[in-house]
Amino acid sequence: MSLTHLSLGDFRNIEALSFEPSPDINIIYGANGSGKTSLLEAIYFLSHGKSFRTNKHKILIRHEQSRCIVHAKKQIHNLSIPVGISKDNAGETKLKIQGQSSRKMSELAQLIPVQVITPESYELFFGGPKERRKFLDLGVFHVEHAFFNAWRNFNKILKQRNALLKSRPSNYAEQIKYWDKEYVRLAEEINIHRKTYISRFEALFFDKIVCQIPIFSGLELRYDAGWKDCLASQLEQQFERDVKLGYTSKGPHKADFSFYSEGYGVENILSRGQLKLLLYALKVAQNSLIESETDKQSILLIDDLPSELGEETMQSVSALLALCQSQLFITAITAESISAVVEPMQRSCSMFHVKHGSLITK
Ligand SMILES: Nc1ncnc2c1ncn2[C@@H]1O[C@H](COP(=O)(O)OP(=O)(O)O)[C@@H](O)[C@H]1O
Ligand SMILES: [Mg+2]
Repeated sequence: MSLTHLSLGDFRNIEALSFEPSPDINIIYGANGSGKTSLLEAIYFLSHGKSFRTNKHKILIRHEQSRCIVHAKKQIHNLSIPVGISKDNAGETKLKIQGQSSRKMSELAQLIPVQVITPESYELFFGGPKERRKFLDLGVFHVEHAFFNAWRNFNKILKQRNALLKSRPSNYAEQIKYWDKEYVRLAEEINIHRKTYISRFEALFFDKIVCQIPIFSGLELRYDAGWKDCLASQLEQQFERDVKLGYTSKGPHKADFSFYSEGYGVENILSRGQLKLLLYALKVAQNSLIESETDKQSILLIDDLPSELGEETMQSVSALLALCQSQLFITAITAESISAVVEPMQRSCSMFHVKHGSLITK
């Protein structure tokens, strides 16, 4: 159910590298600049078709090379499925699944659920809604199978609607009215998928996580669909404003969620350490839900785990990580620095030492 083989070619500072990860815990350690984050980035790239640290695809390709490649074998029950992705300097992506070319990133994403935690991830609670929607929709995508089509079709209509609002051809108001029926239908479908997912997520979060970390017991999740009450009448009410803005201000593309504790947003009431822990809890709950709903082992990438975490937080992180069956890839400068997290989990562990873009297996 895990990635059983990984090979990278011309990815960042890694010229060529191949290894067999453990289905449980993989610790990637090495000095700064050795290529640890790049290795996690390659696994993320395999599932998302992009990086978690840049939107510039060219930077993923090793200097002076023309394309980067990531290959892997994914074990699903007793099937070993070879998958691969490459990207060239012109930005063209090529995908392969079981020897067949594919044009759909969603097929690859579906096979390999990957989430990442970096030292900056807790900014999820402070930044704009885009990152929170991305987090939510990753879970919805894996668990609610009809979501992706609805979301894709909705985005086509949204694009069209926004183009009409911007360019305003002579009959734009009628054209928009014509499309709004489908816009509303798909928006409501997306909203139902998200709400269904959130109710499952909440059940798991409060059953499984809160008993481990009691400080989360008073937390409340509030979901905002991106509009209130009746979307059709909101679109009508907002029409003049949307024309002025040149885009659509109500719909599922504006959805958001936030956590509250005793009536306050968590970002105003929890400490940085507690927010980091909450972030771990959310990612673990999400992976755990994907695993129980889809029978697929998901992957959790944790970059630079020990950075700034106190001893107590390390123990709580360990207790949280023990709650999911995910294949873990954890980076740190030294393997010892994360033994307090890894040892109590009692899962098998492989160590990989990265040096100048190459791996030394122990
Ligand atoms: N496209 C690239 N080609 C070659 N080297 C790169 C490229 N992008 C980044 N690097 C280099 O790769 C090295 C490894 O980076 P990184 O994976 O962030 O290291 P670590 O996480 O181990 O500190 C850095 O020294 C960086 O300068
Ligand atoms: Mg790094």
